[in-house]
Parts: sequence; C-alpha cells; structure tokens
Amino acid sequence: MLAVVPPPVTVRVPAKVNLHLAVGDLRADGYHDLVTIFQALSLTDEVTVAIAEDPGVEVHGEGADSVPTGASNLAWRAVRALAQHVGRDPDDPKVRVVIRKSIPVAGGMAGGSADAAATLVGLASLWRLEISRDELAGIAGKIGADVPFAIYGGTALGTDRGDRIVPVLSRHTFHWVLAFDRRGLSTPEVFDELDRLRADGDPPRVGEAEAVLEGLSSGDPRQLALLLGNDLQAAAVSLRPNLRRTLRAGVNAGALAGMVSGSGPTCAFLCTDGDSAVRVAAELAGAGVCRTVRVAQGPVHGARVVGTEEAP
Ligand code: C5P
Repeated sequence: MLAVVPPPVTVRVPAKVNLHLAVGDLRADGYHDLVTIFQALSLTDEVTVAIAEDPGVEVHGEGADSVPTGASNLAWRAVRALAQHVGRDPDDPKVRVVIRKSIPVAGGMAGGSADAAATLVGLASLWRLEISRDELAGIAGKIGADVPFAIYGGTALGTDRGDRIVPVLSRHTFHWVLAFDRRGLSTPEVFDELDRLRADGDPPRVGEAEAVLEGLSSGDPRQLALLLGNDLQAAAVSLRPNLRRTLRAGVNAGALAGMVSGSGPTCAFLCTDGDSAVRVAAELAGAGVCRTVRVAQGPVHGARVVGTEEAP
C-alpha cells in the first residue's frame, strides 16, 4: 500500500514592532533582561513546509540574498528543534522550507524569528502533531528570544529575554508607516553598543510599561504616540547616524511619532489613521531618506496556517 504524503502547508506570520523596549543589565548568559510590549503588524512573511527527499531552506523576496540557508537559518533550527522534541531524526527531517519574505532582513522587526515561528506552526500541521501553542512557544524560546511572540501575535508584554509572553487585550487598530534602511543592523552589535554607551555615561531610559498599556487601551494614537520608547534607539542611531534624519522626516511628513523598531535600523511611525499613514508614506518615500516605505496596521494575529494545497 502506498503511504499518503500530506500536502505542503503554508503559514503567514507577522513582523513586530516594540512599542516599549526597556533594556536591563547584561546577564551572565549574554542576554539582557527586557520589559517590552510587542505589537504584531500586517507586514508578513509566508513560509511553506513540505515533505521532501531534498531537505533544506529556500528564501525568496525582500532581502533574500542576505539570508543564510544553511544550519544557522532560524527556520532550519526550528525544523531540527521540533523534530528532536517529537522524537524524529533532526539530522534527516525530510522537510523542505520555502520562505517568501516581505519583512526586512536584519531590520529590527524579528523577520528571521517570524520565519522560525511559522516553521514550527507549519510543521505541527504537516506532521499532524497534537501540540498546543504554549508548547510550541516553549520550543520557540530555545531558538531565539523573539520567536515565541511571533507564535501568538496580537499585542503582548514580553519579559525575561523578551520570550516570556503575556497577551495584552487590545481592541483598537493602530496605523503605522515603516521605513526600511539600505542595510541591516546586527542585533548583538546594537546591544553591545548600548552597553558601551551606558559604560560611558547614562543615556536616558524609557519609563514604565504600565503607561504604555494604558495608552494602548485608550485606543487614542495621540496618547500612545507620547508614550512610545525604545532603549535600543540611542545605540542604533549611534551606529547608523542617518536614522536621525529618517526619524525627523517621518514626523515632518505628519506622523504622530517615530521610533527605531527593536534593534533597528527600520524606523516605525505611528499615524492618526489609515489615510494619514498613506500620506506620510508617500511623503517619506519622496524624501529619499530610506530604501523602501511600507504601511501596516496592528495588532494582527500570530503565525497561522493559510493553505495546505499550494505547491512549494
Ligand atoms: O535570541 P536572539 O538570537 O534573537 O538574540 C540575538 C542577540 O541579541 C543575542 O545573542 C544577544 O546578543 C542580543 N539580545 C540580548 N538580550 C535579549 C535579546 C537579545 O542581549 N533579551
């Protein structure tokens, strides 16, 4: 009797922006304690996982050339981690992963982490695993600090390394403009730069997350705009001074506030509404301060299966 090969599974997964990113001290394990508020945005990658005799990762789309496809690729690490977790052979998982990117690579929007989260969700469906989101998030945290949030999406408070996630109820939609820079930034280098800046002086730190949570629940983008903050911004701007010009250009174009997203260099601008975001995006694109401009809204849901028929 012929074994029935399950069809490929496609998962859509969101980018994130940190509305609040408070960075604590460097820990012995090389990470920093974080208190952060994530929001998942309607800027998504698509990941298809399929049973295949020629295992590996393929990457297409935005920044594909700069994504490693070997063992260091986070999606491949996700394949190995889940295989190990469920007793399959991690060295021969017989899986092919095809990633179609729209999230900028090394952009501070957790694109690689998103692809790993999508791979976990896709494989759970492909392998017909009885596994909860919380169990997948536990495996996700071993792959990278931002991977668990991409499993849940929405708006969430992240603590510890940013990988302990508590969902935040947020019924309001916020409108964003994203400015991609010409080159990516390395996350560890940005954290190192913050440690260096803090050793030299004491750059201002963001306030408490509670105020941001209140701003979120008000649903008023003007209130939220006053509360956005990112401790990594000073470090990203120190490494990439042109971001100062990008941030200014977005606010001059009519955004309520602009901030570096995560470790950068993507800049995220909060706007009054969808129409305003489109106007800000057009003006920012014309200002010539960045490579590409996108509009997005948040929150959106986390990694979710969108199809099981499409061939990879
Ligand atoms: O977990 P992930 O591989 O995404 O983290 C990339 C790097 O970012 C870490 O190796 C570390 O240098 C830095 N990082 C940190 N503290 C965190 C998260 C990330 O220092 N909470």
